[in-house]
Amino acid sequence: MGPTLKISHRTKDGGTAYPVHIPQFGLGVFLAPADGTCKNACLWAIKAGYRHIDTAAVYRNEEEVGQAIVESGIDRSELFITTKLRRVDALGYQETLDRCDESLQKLGLDFVDLYLVHAPPENKSSRKDVWRAMEEILESGKARAIGVSNYGPHHLEELLENSNYGPSVNQIEIHLWLQRPYLIKATRNSGAAPMAYSPLARGQKVNDEKLISLSKELGITPAQIAIKWCMDQGYITIPKSANQMRIIENLNSLEIELDEKTNLILKGFDEDYISGWNPTVDP
Ligand SMILES: NC(=O)c1ccc[n+]([C@@H]2O[C@H](COP(=O)([O-])OP(=O)(O)OC[C@H]3O[C@@H](n4cnc5c(N)ncnc54)[C@H](OP(=O)(O)O)[C@@H]3O)[C@@H](O)[C@H]2O)c1
Repeated sequence: MGPTLKISHRTKDGGTAYPVHIPQFGLGVFLAPADGTCKNACLWAIKAGYRHIDTAAVYRNEEEVGQAIVESGIDRSELFITTKLRRVDALGYQETLDRCDESLQKLGLDFVDLYLVHAPPENKSSRKDVWRAMEEILESGKARAIGVSNYGPHHLEELLENSNYGPSVNQIEIHLWLQRPYLIKATRNSGAAPMAYSPLARGQKVNDEKLISLSKELGITPAQIAIKWCMDQGYITIPKSANQMRIIENLNSLEIELDEKTNLILKGFDEDYISGWNPTVDP
């Protein structure tokens, strides 16, 4: 299952609260349709040794994640399940509580391990109430940890000014081609752990020529280099695949070692390449 990391929430007095161990490596299920594809991907992953699944209300596959949890036969306590509040649902206090309950119902769970605000709520005036509800979700035990996604440095600052508990993670697009040192620094300064989504740039960069030639030299696959680089930076890393062979290939990246020379080359891959959306720059 790979290493775990300790995450927690910064308190107003500078302490930390609600610490949780999170498997650093997990399966993403964005664009894994709920026609059996998502369930199979989760089952293959759990069988291979994955213990962390990252879903979201907006992916419309929480039910299948829940079915896979039951069918896997693995004890709930051994699995780490992350889901997210849709941006368009981040409207206020009660709406946030209600959407969390809906996700729990779809997943068939009493609690999730990590609940995230999918992106900074578009209506700035609702942000304080949304986070107050997230804190309520944490205190009530419906989530063992709470966090954010796609927050830029200014969003994190604003959140910390108005919170009792800071976010335990900031899930952001991070990969070899988008290394974002300033955002990593701001995330860590807020007390949150960086959680790297789209570590393969949504599959758009696995055929990158430079990466392919490096992978031939090292005798490993391009995806394995990209995933292991994220892991070696200490980021929680959640590649998506719905293909059994690739699910195993991605997990096996944990076994490879990238030496200093390779890491120096990989640092040079950064080209500020956004593969999806970028709400971190929103007001
Ligand atoms: N918070 C957010 O806003 C946000 C945004 C995006 C993603 N995420 C999360 O992060 C997860 C991962 O990101 P992502 O799904 O955008 O992209 P990704 O993990 O970077 O890439 C997934 C793509 O790469 C392909 N792939 C996977 N393993 C491969 C391999 N070994 N060799 C070649 N191709 C491979 C997959 O196809 P196959 O399935 O056919 O293997 C899929 O097309 C998501 O599933 C989601 O959980 C969060």
